[in-house]
Amino acid sequence: MTGVDVAAAAIAKAKGRAADEGVQVRWVAGDVSSRAGLGLEPGYALVYDFGCIQGLANSARQEAAAGIAHLAAPGAKLLVAAFAPGRRVLLPRGMDQQDVIGLFGDTWDLEHTESASDATAPRPVRRARPSLYRLTRKGQADEPPGS
Ligand SMILES: C[S@@+](CC[C@H](N)C(=O)[O-])C[C@H]1O[C@@H](n2cnc3c(N)ncnc32)[C@H](O)[C@@H]1O
Repeated sequence: MTGVDVAAAAIAKAKGRAADEGVQVRWVAGDVSSRAGLGLEPGYALVYDFGCIQGLANSARQEAAAGIAHLAAPGAKLLVAAFAPGRRVLLPRGMDQQDVIGLFGDTWDLEHTESASDATAPRPVRRARPSLYRLTRKGQADEPPGS
């Protein structure tokens, strides 16, 4: 399992939680839109974007999506959590189902979309109408190594 975040404080907090749970994780402090900078090898069966990509600029989203596609094993699952699109002061601008398909649709099939609203979440988060998208990596048999 590998955990990526650009913020050292987020990595530090996650390390503490992983230790509490007894989970072994490889931690990478890096930018998800810089594939080379992460130094990761392909083969991941599951990728979970918990609200990171939705906050990136369009070009960075594209770079992140390309990096995820590169790292994913054939048939891999991708989970993407995102708020509904909106203009917000503190929370990310979000993305809807069409945005997700536009970003990942070339290499992933969208299988399922569901509301991720949680009655216990803070009001601003509930008002941002979070959703969870589940996608499956399309076949990669024809792609040359390293593409
Ligand atoms: C909604 S938080 C999720 C935090 C944590 N990963 C979790 O699952 O609880 C989104 C995280 O994305 C990180 N982030 C924002 N831009 C990033 C980037 N370009 N590369 C890597 N991480 C980024 C932020 O530092 C923040 O910790």
